[in-house]
Order: sequence, then structure tokens, then C-alpha cells
Amino acid sequence: MSDTEYMLLAIKLAKQGCGWVNPNPMVGAVIVRDGRIIGQGYHQKYGELHAERNALASCTESPQNATLYVTLEPCCHYGKTPPCTEAILKSGIRRVVVGTVDPNPLVAGKGIQILREHGIEVTEGVLREACTKLNEVFFYFIQTKTPFVVMKYAMTMDGKIATHSGQSKWITGETARRRVQEDRHRYSGIMVGIGTILADDPLLTCHLSDSKNPIRIICDSRLRTPLNARVVQTVGDAPTILATCSQDEALARPYRDAGCEVLTLPSRDGSVDLRKLMTALGKKEIDSVLLEGGSTLNWSALQSGVVSKVQAYVAPKLFGGAGAKCPVGGIGVERPEQAFRFASPQITRLGEDVLLESEVLPCSQES
Ligand SMILES: NC(=O)c1ccc[n+]([C@@H]2O[C@H](COP(=O)([O-])OP(=O)(O)OC[C@H]3O[C@@H](n4cnc5c(N)ncnc54)[C@H](OP(=O)(O)O)[C@@H]3O)[C@@H](O)[C@H]2O)c1
Repeated sequence: MSDTEYMLLAIKLAKQGCGWVNPNPMVGAVIVRDGRIIGQGYHQKYGELHAERNALASCTESPQNATLYVTLEPCCHYGKTPPCTEAILKSGIRRVVVGTVDPNPLVAGKGIQILREHGIEVTEGVLREACTKLNEVFFYFIQTKTPFVVMKYAMTMDGKIATHSGQSKWITGETARRRVQEDRHRYSGIMVGIGTILADDPLLTCHLSDSKNPIRIICDSRLRTPLNARVVQTVGDAPTILATCSQDEALARPYRDAGCEVLTLPSRDGSVDLRKLMTALGKKEIDSVLLEGGSTLNWSALQSGVVSKVQAYVAPKLFGGAGAKCPVGGIGVERPEQAFRFASPQITRLGEDVLLESEVLPCSQES
């Protein structure tokens, strides 16, 4: 097998940590000696051993003179676990193949440098693009300290996210909805506006087996969330944060008593300041947020410059209705050249539906 093939295997291993390692990166490692795989591992859970140490622990024979393939540069600092560079040096590994450099300022090339200084041959950049894509959340979070926000919506082919009467269940089919569930596991938080709570009373949990629930964040400037809303009633299953501008302690108390967190933030144009909210969520180590709308909050999020990526699920249906909501409301831009712009989308077919995924180009949003 070639370096690329071993790295592909390491990426596949890394993905098994999806949803369990945040805010850490997903990392996979393979150890090869004389053309045979003698060990493999991945970072399984936040706070637990890194991929390199798991791979070394799994070795079926001595890793002396072996090659280590790892999707991300080995760490060289003491975090929750000791540096992986130490374990590699101790193991007798002779060559290390790295997918991508770790942008964490505590590492940022120093891990590779330490290995080279100790006579280990290091090859960098094997499947760099795929290894970077694997950890788009980690790379963003470690550099900005704010969550990677994915704006997700399901719409009809005439661009409606609900009928004129406000009903939106269901727009897409089962395959697309399953994919959304996987993303609820993948990302640390899920965010909606109070309009969506009042219209749909959603649970916002992940219904897949062997999965985790995202932390639910409700943008509710005036604390209008009903105390019998499902996001309040089920707080034992998944944490709920109510992001508000209300300073009224008496209003906040019943939510706190129910087990919700009430996060008071400054207002911007009369609603929760989303940039301040992202900073606050980052401090709580929430590295990623799936923004599930609705229309009013989506516009505000785009305008505030907090969105990193858009996922548009498109169903082969038409709702019609001049008053039926579209994914992004607000006032909208005046001229076509003022549009929010995206990279060329990745297109995935999901049953009868189509998913368009695209990164927001930085110049598109307010800086
Ligand atoms: N098909 C889909 O993918 C999908 C997904 C979600 C929702 N929906 C549909 O969308 C509809 C709800 O959308 P909506 O536009 O009425 O409501 P929304 O966007 O869910 O919530 C808007 C409300 O959120 C509050 N908010 C707090 N901070 C905000 C901020 N910074 N910017 C903007 N709003 C902020 C505001 O009320 P306060 O000022 O009182 O805080 C605002 O009125 C429902 O019909 C739902 O079924 C469809």
C-alpha cells in the first residue's frame, strides 16, 4: 500500500471519533512495519488518549523502525494527556507521515520540528486537503475561539421552509432527515429562534442510537419560551440555553428552576447580539453550532457574520404562497452584487432530495 492509502485508512479511523471528541480534533493513526499494519487507533473521546498513543498501545509487535501515519501533526504540549511526540520518540518509530499541520498555536509545526530534531524522517501534507476538511470545525474553533456555525434548512424547489400557515413537517424525505440527525450528533450545539419554538415546539435532540444530543440554544430576547415547551420539559435529556437580553430575574427564575441556563447578553437592534453569543458559547467550549433557523434568525446570523457554512436541503416539491417563509428573511439585500456569496457547492443526493453544502466566502459577511 502507498502513503496515500495508509493515510486514507487513518482518515477512516479518525471519523469514528465524530461527535465524541469535540472540541478536540478527530485524529486517526496507522503504524506500518515492513509493509504490514501492526497497529492502528483513533482519538475516541474528549479527554482520553490521542490517536498516536492508541495506535502504539494496539501494536502487535515492536514499532521499532516502523512508519506512523497520522492525520494531524502530533501534539508536543501537555494538555489533558502528555505530548504524543514523547511517546513517538520512545517507541523507536523511524518515519512519521503527517496529513496536516496542527493550527493550534501550542503546536503549529513544533511537533514536527521536535520529531525532526530527534532524527525522525517526517513527510508532510499527504492527503492534506482531506485531512483539513475532516477537521474544519477544530481548525476554525482553535483559531477564532467561537463556534463553527452551519446554517441548515430544508426547502421546497420554490424556496419555502414552511407553508403559508407555518407548517413545515415534513419537507424532505427520510434519507435527508437521517443525515440531519447525524449532524445533530456531529456538532456540539443546535440553535433556533423563538419563532421556531412557538411554531413547531421542536425537541432538537438526536434520535439515532449510540449518539449524543447537542446543547440546545434558543435565541429568545424577551424570554417568551413557554415553560411547557419541549426544550424546557426535556432539559434532563439535553442541556438548554436560553440566550436573552432580558434582565428580569423574576422572568428568568422559572427557567433556571426547570434546569435551563439563562444567558443574558447585550442586545443588537433589539435582539440578542449574535456575535456576543458566539463568544459566550466559545467560552463554554461549544466548538460548533447547527443553526436550524428560522427565517428571521438566519438573516440576522448571516448579517452578523457568524455563519461559516450553509446546508440547503432541497425537496422536489412546491408550496407556493407569497406569504410562506423562505430560508432567509429579514430585509434582504437591495442589489444583486450585495449578495452573500458562497464557494461552489458540494452536491449530495439523499433519496429524492438534494443537499447543497457551501462555505460562506469571508468577504460576504460583515467583518
Ligand atoms: N424548513 C426548515 O428547515 C425550517 C427550520 C426552522 C424553522 N422553520 C420554520 O420557520 C418558521 C419560524 O421562523 P421565524 O422567522 O418566524 O422565526 P425564527 O427565526 O425561528 O425566530 C425569530 C425570533 O428569534 C428571536 N431572536 C433572538 N435573537 C435574534 C437575533 N439576533 N436575530 C433574529 N431573531 C432573534 C426574535 O424574537 P425576540 O425578539 O422576541 O427574541 C425573532 O423574532 C416556522 O414556521 C418554522 O416551522 C423551518
